Amino acid sequence: MAKTYDYLFKLLLIGDSGVGKTCVLFRFSEDTFNSSFISTIGIDFKIRTIELDGKRIKLQRLDTAGQERFRTITTAYYRGAMVRIAHSFSGTSLSPPAHGNMLVYDITNEKSFDNIRNWIRNIEEHASADVEKMILGNKCDVNDKRQVSKERGEKLALDYGIKFMETSAKANINVENAFFTLARDIKAKMDKKLEGNSPQGSNQGVKITPDQQKKTSFFRCVLL
Ligand code: GTP
Ligand code: MG
Repeated sequence: MAKTYDYLFKLLLIGDSGVGKTCVLFRFSEDTFNSSFISTIGIDFKIRTIELDGKRIKLQRLDTAGQERFRTITTAYYRGAMVRIAHSFSGTSLSPPAHGNMLVYDITNEKSFDNIRNWIRNIEEHASADVEKMILGNKCDVNDKRQVSKERGEKLALDYGIKFMETSAKANINVENAFFTLARDIKAKMDKKLEGNSPQGSNQGVKITPDQQKKTSFFRCVLL
């Protein structure tokens, strides 16, 4: 089977309803923008393979619903509890939890910014401690309605020791940059772990070695 990628990273987009998670995802996947608001129901996902340092990285991005009524479903995804990857030779194994979380707020909506702390708390309760995180202040094209300054976004990210960017899905500002930065950070962390000879089965990402690639004839995702 032809080699299609070297790494598989799972990323989650998290944040209040209406902040623009789906639009950010569409901008990155299809370079399109839709101004009508169709709130996500449950969970959705998109795949794009990028190239970093000569390696092909498959990014599986899960778009979660911001609405409270879907919270039970989306929380289950923090733990990776609902997706199993079965492959033909080594049997069925639990896929790792998300490798990266994009926390998104809307710079024109103070409440969505305040809620980032709650989303982080939620992740910390349910997800693996060393998942890479990044905060995005989206809709930075709408400066006249801005309620959250860039400095406050930077300060919040600094408090948690994570990276921050202002983005616009509409004007295509920093979307590409944000995903590449997160992917690069996950890859660096993963390579470091692999160099340190971490035990097999560590959930620090799925690196597809040439040997595994020969053996793995297919991947199948099963929703439980
Ligand atoms: P849920 O699925 O309910 O969690 O919401 P969401 O976070 O996925 O929001 P969505 O991407 O559906 O966007 C909500 C609204 O904001 C839509 O009307 C979008 O067109 C608009 N929007 C999203 N991103 C931007 C942006 O960068 N700039 C502007 N001006 N509007 C945006
Ligand atoms: Mg959505």
